[in-house]
Amino acid sequence: MTGGWQRVCRVEEIEDDQPVGRVVLGSDRVCVVARGDGEFVAMLDRCPHRDIALSGGVVKDGTLVCPGHFWRFDLATGERTDLPERGATVYRTRVVDGWVEADLPPPAPRRSIREWLLAEARSSDAAREA
Ligand code: FES
Repeated sequence: MTGGWQRVCRVEEIEDDQPVGRVVLGSDRVCVVARGDGEFVAMLDRCPHRDIALSGGVVKDGTLVCPGHFWRFDLATGERTDLPERGATVYRTRVVDGWVEADLPPPAPRRSIREWLLAEARSSDAAREA
């Protein structure tokens, strides 16, 4: 898969106060929320605080409340309401033939654990030398 517009879920699956989380083929988990004005928001289904699925949260007063530590993310922007620089990753959405589609980035290239460990060691070496 190369990213771009991908089907995430059917419109009728989305309730007003409950996010829907899906794994989109070849991509990451995606969370879809009804904004309450007939529009939908899609975001990376991972809280920027910890690796907790935002789809387990609740929608309240135009925000998505994370089930982890209750950070609130504005549904219009994805920004954390009290600390905008720690926002959720939001994707554009559209509805096609009853499906909510999200404009997803290309999936990150897969690396072996060995490659990941070497990259982490290099970056920590560089940080120590700086
Ligand atoms: S995991 Fe989301 S607020 Fe902590």
